[in-house]
Amino acid sequence: MLNFSFQNTTQIRFGEGQIASLSKQIPSDAKILVTYGGGSIKSNGVYDQVAAALANHTWFEFSGIEPNPSYDTLMKAQDIIKENNINFILAVGGGSVVDGSKFIAAAALFEGDDPWEIVSKQTRIKKALPLACVLTLPATGSESNTGAVVTRDGNKLPFNSPLVRPIFAVLDPAVTLSLSDRQVGNGVVDAFVHTMEQYLTYSVNAKVQDRFAEGLLLTLIEEGPKALAPETSKDLDIRGNIMWAATMALNGLIGAGVPQDWTTHMIGHELTGTHGIDHARTLSIVLPAVMKVCKEAKREKLLQYAERIWNLTEGDEDSRINGAIEHTEQFFEKMQVPTRLSQVDLGEADIDLLIEKLTRHGMLKLGEHSAVTPEISREILVTAL
Ligand code: NZQ
Ligand code: ZN
Repeated sequence: MLNFSFQNTTQIRFGEGQIASLSKQIPSDAKILVTYGGGSIKSNGVYDQVAAALANHTWFEFSGIEPNPSYDTLMKAQDIIKENNINFILAVGGGSVVDGSKFIAAAALFEGDDPWEIVSKQTRIKKALPLACVLTLPATGSESNTGAVVTRDGNKLPFNSPLVRPIFAVLDPAVTLSLSDRQVGNGVVDAFVHTMEQYLTYSVNAKVQDRFAEGLLLTLIEEGPKALAPETSKDLDIRGNIMWAATMALNGLIGAGVPQDWTTHMIGHELTGTHGIDHARTLSIVLPAVMKVCKEAKREKLLQYAERIWNLTEGDEDSRINGAIEHTEQFFEKMQVPTRLSQVDLGEADIDLLIEKLTRHGMLKLGEHSAVTPEISREILVTAL
């Protein structure tokens, strides 16, 4: 196992009815900015629950944070923050709202000239407004991690700071019942790929991390399709298991002390930034191709994955690995996400620009061995056609 330090300070408040606890979780003298997206929280009753819980607090609101939140939208929150001396941010929504609110919290106290530097130059922030969230879409893990992804002019870039980790996160599986099948499928696949990016590398004999990761993968494979099946889609146990799996997949635990990959995500961000494809759908297209192109580097872990996740123990190594990749693709198909670029109307002619942008964004040595050069990223995209 590699050396690591691990701390996750986000208090998780899991279960039905937990939104009401906001009244006690947020200091009574806080000046709160409630941030949200395009209005799903208004139609599913989450906004009303938040408003009821904050009845005795002073709060303002900022709406319109779009999927793959844009810098321009997020900067509009800064005036409200200044005018009203906001000192606490409560993000209510999916990963985009939580990520966008992390940027808002960081930009509010940024001391440099242009807050975009937090992302473009990876300028380390020294302060951020305190932030908490009510998660409405299990997928990204943003509710208890230090990362966020922001888009400006087609450039979708991540930043990281312990200062934007939510203080607490309310995880009420009941609020996920209003999600469309598309968002349910996306969420399960995003959490699955997060787990894979931290698992499918090379062995460092980290037994706990491996088995936690395998537990998450098996849970998502078991519960994901049930959340789409009409007869079980409203089952709160199923929703709860998916929600907790998604949080655990990217809260730092399974990634501590092991090599990590993130090739799939970095190529995926270019697909979203350039073509607007949903985050998870870029991953379901890219991951199978990464598994194929990086087969040798990942051989040992691919065999472990084949055996422990898909029970593939017969036949030679290559047939077990190929079988595991096929099962992965079939699982993605069950979750109703694409596995090929052609399914999102992209072809060979689109690859040059994606590689150009990856290069411009400094994604020159991706992967657990820093061996995925732009040329190999091209091979991955060609394999995904
Ligand atoms: O905007 P509203 O109206 O709320 O609608 C949203 C949005 O249209 C809707 N939605 C959310 N909760 C709902 C709901 N609709 C009905 N009922 C509910 N309960 O779902 C749509 C998609 O929401 P979004 O927040 O964009 O989805 P997701 O949670 O998948 O977040 C994706 C973003 O997170 C980033 C992605 O890159 C992308 O920008 N990621 C963040 C990470 C992190 N911070 O660690 C890691 C991830 O790998 C990922 O990159
Ligand atoms: Zn992701």
